[in-house]
Amino acid sequence: MERAGGAATKSTRRDVLRVASGAAGVAAVAGAVGGAAYLVLDQGADVAPPRAADAVEVDLSPLATGQQVMVFWRTFPVFVVRRSAQALATLRDPDHFGQLADPNSKELQQPPYAQNAARSIKPEFAVLVGVCTHMGCTPQFYPRPHASEPVADWPGGYLCPCHGSRYDLAGRVFRDFPAPYNLPVPPHRFVGDKTIRIGENPANVTFDFNSILQI
Ligand code: FES
Repeated sequence: MERAGGAATKSTRRDVLRVASGAAGVAAVAGAVGGAAYLVLDQGADVAPPRAADAVEVDLSPLATGQQVMVFWRTFPVFVVRRSAQALATLRDPDHFGQLADPNSKELQQPPYAQNAARSIKPEFAVLVGVCTHMGCTPQFYPRPHASEPVADWPGGYLCPCHGSRYDLAGRVFRDFPAPYNLPVPPHRFVGDKTIRIGENPANVTFDFNSILQI
């Protein structure tokens, strides 16, 4: 199978998926297309990144609302999140907008088809490179609003454990924290109603991931 970047890869490639649900740990397995293998671990467990893949297909049908699957693309961790209607409403809340450094995604941290309020092709599904734009740590997933966990008045999103930067469930960084930019959105496209291919753009779209400001 010819993949993005011109490298020939076999459909039997064995990719490793790490699945987490909320801050608590494992809840489900999301399938990958093409004979990929799954490795299910508790969130926070150490796992060696698998070898780089130019394109990775992921079957999202087992992913329940509020859950996240993490895959590796080009050695980067990529979060794929299925967001609830409530979470999507929060992303559009004007009060929430006011807390963000780049609420309208004006900085080049995503392809043109993700420069919208949900930063995604389908609002329900976010696809984000899980590398903090401050110094490269992996932000942790806390999808549910909470009065005190992991910090006071938590709206739901990602908290970077290294220096406290915060991102919402669209990967938009909160103002006045160390990270300067929103989490990158990688090239991706839907090849089925619930199947995405990370590493390739939709038809007739040209977007070079190397053009983003910061990974
Ligand atoms: S690396 Fe994420 S806040 Fe510093």
